[in-house]
Amino acid sequence: MSPSTITRVALSSYVPAGNAKLSDFAVEQVPAPTKDQLKEGQVIVKPLYFSVDPYQRGRLSGATDSYVASYVKGQPITNFLVGAIAESSSKDFKQGDLVLASNGSWETEYITDASAISKAPVQQRVDPKDYVGVLSMPSFTAYVGAAVLAKPKAGETILVSSASGAVGQMVVQLAKARGLRVVGVAGSDEKVEYVKSLGADAAFNYKTCGDFTKAIRGAAPEGIDIYFDNVGGEFLDAALANINTHARIIICGAISQYNASSPDELYGVKNLTKVLVKKATIQGFIITDYYSTPHFGEFTKEVSSLYHEGKIKYRLSETQGLENGPQAILDLFAGKNFGKSIIKA
Ligand SMILES: NC(=O)c1ccc[n+]([C@@H]2O[C@H](COP(=O)([O-])OP(=O)(O)OC[C@H]3O[C@@H](n4cnc5c(N)ncnc54)[C@H](OP(=O)(O)O)[C@@H]3O)[C@@H](O)[C@H]2O)c1
Repeated sequence: MSPSTITRVALSSYVPAGNAKLSDFAVEQVPAPTKDQLKEGQVIVKPLYFSVDPYQRGRLSGATDSYVASYVKGQPITNFLVGAIAESSSKDFKQGDLVLASNGSWETEYITDASAISKAPVQQRVDPKDYVGVLSMPSFTAYVGAAVLAKPKAGETILVSSASGAVGQMVVQLAKARGLRVVGVAGSDEKVEYVKSLGADAAFNYKTCGDFTKAIRGAAPEGIDIYFDNVGGEFLDAALANINTHARIIICGAISQYNASSPDELYGVKNLTKVLVKKATIQGFIITDYYSTPHFGEFTKEVSSLYHEGKIKYRLSETQGLENGPQAILDLFAGKNFGKSIIKA
């Protein structure tokens, strides 16, 4: 039986620049949806786990010119989630089905058109949280960036920033599986130890290493063939200072820049001439462009089997309760997540 009220997390004010605050979100108790409210083709989803991702920062902004729509003031936050069907008026879903949504609502139960969800692919030994964990969007992002776009060759050196995070921990392991020398960078000694435990050949704490350029040179004296960039800014500049001829720089994210309070606060990269003299390539990408390519099937096959064979690890950073969702978003930008950030409903 449905509880009479549910929790929902809505946007209460747009955050065009600077750091978001808890007061920019509204955590509300609202009446639970009921079966008699369902129209033909609709279902009630009861989320089990919500994904928390840095790109959500951009969706708080109210901007209209981004690759992904802003959240709307007064409306629930949305993101990837895995849940179960609580009630159904759709011929395609029945009560109890495990479902995935890429834009599911931050509510402990919500009504949606069946066209906005899909059945979780049946795989043995997959825990529901794996769909927002090891098999989730950031893992696929790591695959496309590190295994496809970076054109890795065994023996090359890859540098990856935010290496203990959702994308980074998968980059480290996919690169090792391809015979690369891996240098990981993270924001605490504990995270650095974790990155080493994943097989990284060298790793360091960027908060205590001093000069970034020298620290990279110390960890990769042979130079960098691939830089998998999750952070942008000054660290990207230092990586450029260390690239080899024909290096590939994969721009996956720029988290150090997302909370700039004005354009003046954005870091101006100085080492772009290195791209010229080293005949390097810089490529940005957005993962949603790749779900309809064969790479999604390749990723699922490779990562599921490596995971089931115990050959890769995937650390989760689990927040309890949707009411703590706003804090989980803010924590990403303070480095408080250790592993892929998810919320247990
Ligand atoms: N292109 C795409 O389609 C795509 C898809 C998914 C993710 N991304 C991007 O990939 C990057 C990683 O995402 P994720 O989901 O894997 O997040 P994550 O690494 O699990 O979590 C964010 C981490 O970023 C680090 N960080 C926060 N503020 C920072 C700062 N000012 N400077 C340097 N590092 C900072 C923190 O780790 P430390 O403690 O190590 O500092 C924090 O734990 C993000 O930039 C994200 O936007 C892009």
